[in-house]
Amino acid sequence: MFDSGFGGLTVLRELLRHLPGADFVYLDDTAHLPYGSKSQAAVTRFTAAATKLLVGRGADLVVVACNTASALALPLLQTEASVALMGVIQPGAEAAAAAVPPGSTVLVLATEATVASHAYARACAAHGLLAVEKACPLFVPLAEEGWTDSSITTQVADVYLREALATSPALPAAVVLGCTHYPLLRPLLQGTVQGLLGSVPIVDSAEATARRAAQLLPAATSAGQRGSVLSVLATDSPTKFQRLGARFLCRELPPVEHVQLEE
Ligand code: DGL
Repeated sequence: MFDSGFGGLTVLRELLRHLPGADFVYLDDTAHLPYGSKSQAAVTRFTAAATKLLVGRGADLVVVACNTASALALPLLQTEASVALMGVIQPGAEAAAAAVPPGSTVLVLATEATVASHAYARACAAHGLLAVEKACPLFVPLAEEGWTDSSITTQVADVYLREALATSPALPAAVVLGCTHYPLLRPLLQGTVQGLLGSVPIVDSAEATARRAAQLLPAATSAGQRGSVLSVLATDSPTKFQRLGARFLCRELPPVEHVQLEE
């Protein structure tokens, strides 16, 4: 699995729970962070190179634990991949549909590139939901800096949510975290959402992604004798990932190995 940074750890947490018999390689492509403000051509290049590296490490399934890469690159790469390749947008839309009545409006918070692709609008429409999409570009650097409970992040969240609500045709019945970094801010977002919308559900794609992965790798759903092995690779300095990654994953990390993507 891979993401441009820590965000994919929110998906890894659920994968570890649902696939106790699998081994995991997490690739952190910080050299190219943020994906969310890059072009489709660039994100497709990074995604293809990350997939190639993970397949080379023996992956049976590649989880694109990044909404931006899922929106911009997955439809093309899925047609040429030599192993199963899955993203997080379909699972995110499924999680939204499970949380609200049909016909509801949902507010999707995502990166600029994901919003511009309207991948969530399409995926939600397929489940009978209207998605109001809002780009929140400052959330990724704030999460990457570990500012998950800062008053500055609260102010940023308040501005983004107010701007989104000003354009929404109806009061959203749920908030969808359409970037895998955003669940790292969930406790903080909960307060802001509660203040502006009342107690509506906040959903993300992590658990639905893990359930789908479990369907694709049924043999890995029961724990083996030795437990799962986690390897972590980073395309930029491993130091920061080592320091903050354990906090976000809520478990010790193995030494992070530096790798280079072959684009
Ligand atoms: N975590 C990624 C996502 O789900 C992208 C963050 C970024 O690199 O902009 O969209």
